[in-house]
Amino acid sequence: MTQTQTSPAYPTLTPAELRHPDSLKWTLYADDVIPMWIADMDFPVAPPILAALRERLERGLGYHQLAGDRVLDGLLREKLATHGLSDLPEGGIAMLPGVVPGIYATVAALTQPGEKVLTMTPIYHPFHLSITGQGREVASVPLLDGPDGYEIDWDGMDAAAQDTRLLLLCHPHNPTGRVWTHEELEKLRDLVAMHDLSVLSDELHADLRFTGAPFESFAAAERVRDRTITVTGPCKAFNTAGLGIGVLIGHDAELVKKVRAAAGGLMGHEGAMSVTMWQAALKDGGPWLADTVAYLRANRDFLTDYLRQHLPAVKFHPVESTYLAWLDLRDFPRAGDMQKFLLEEARVAVHDGPTFVPEELKPQAQGFIRLNFATSREILTDALERLREALA
Ligand SMILES: Cc1ncc(COP(=O)(O)O)c(C=O)c1O
Repeated sequence: MTQTQTSPAYPTLTPAELRHPDSLKWTLYADDVIPMWIADMDFPVAPPILAALRERLERGLGYHQLAGDRVLDGLLREKLATHGLSDLPEGGIAMLPGVVPGIYATVAALTQPGEKVLTMTPIYHPFHLSITGQGREVASVPLLDGPDGYEIDWDGMDAAAQDTRLLLLCHPHNPTGRVWTHEELEKLRDLVAMHDLSVLSDELHADLRFTGAPFESFAAAERVRDRTITVTGPCKAFNTAGLGIGVLIGHDAELVKKVRAAAGGLMGHEGAMSVTMWQAALKDGGPWLADTVAYLRANRDFLTDYLRQHLPAVKFHPVESTYLAWLDLRDFPRAGDMQKFLLEEARVAVHDGPTFVPEELKPQAQGFIRLNFATSREILTDALERLREALA
């Protein structure tokens, strides 16, 4: 692939350059390890974002608009309307210094200590931590491994919803890569309406879809929009996690205010550079994002073919979104300590399956791994060959 002005510099990625001392991903493990764990892409910053950041730096870094940036607010409203979130009221968007603070604030604002919070597992681990870390309990419903992908256990959800008041939804879902379909969203909407639940829908991975269909937010249906807080940010699609920023979105401005207030003065304001970055991403980042999604889709297909051909005992469903593959290696002899085994024998660092489930389900998640394939084809190939050799 040749490098154009707007496409990421994929072919020039070298481990030596990526292993910069300020990179968490590339420095947690030894120098000979390929890191495929934390959800960062190895690609450089999109050129239009870089240009906007440079311009901002040269201009100054005083306090940004603390009540919310009008330009960013407008760009977000335009973008969210394409997900079905139109007619957001004044106060329906509140900025955050990241997405995870929004999850914590929602749990704090909408539940009491000792209460159960509903979620589907495996799931991005701060979902559980936001519950248990604030003295609530996880009501976890494991996803079912269906013939065509992970499915929601509707009976399990119905039973677990009985004594909960809040559902934490991940859409698209990290780590299974599912993009919940319209039918699934409708059933979930029925369920939350029937059980009178509030919902937090984390839609951070929405722009990294391989499905082609337009994205449908959970809150896109009128009957659930007033009970839903949506959180999102630019950090997955544009690989900008080092510049924390996120947003709380809701059609009920009072609900947004209540959730934002739960963090109160404890949560700092969003940084000026992060606002500039998100503005540039929304205004001019489209071509870079399209190139990146195409590259990730090709990596996903490469990974799928490679595993089917060389490691057929690895069970998985090709992801519909994002760059995190959820792989079932339970048939291998070292399933009991797979992450450690792959780190020591293959020199590849992945996330361990048990990370993504609550305490009582950890034994069942042994042998699963989450593998981040957002790197150059060359590095991905090297990692897969290492896995193949170690698992042979
Ligand atoms: C679903 C989901 N939500 C939130 C985050 C983290 O967001 P932030 O760094 O803005 O807190 C991640 C990171 O991988 C994620 O996958």
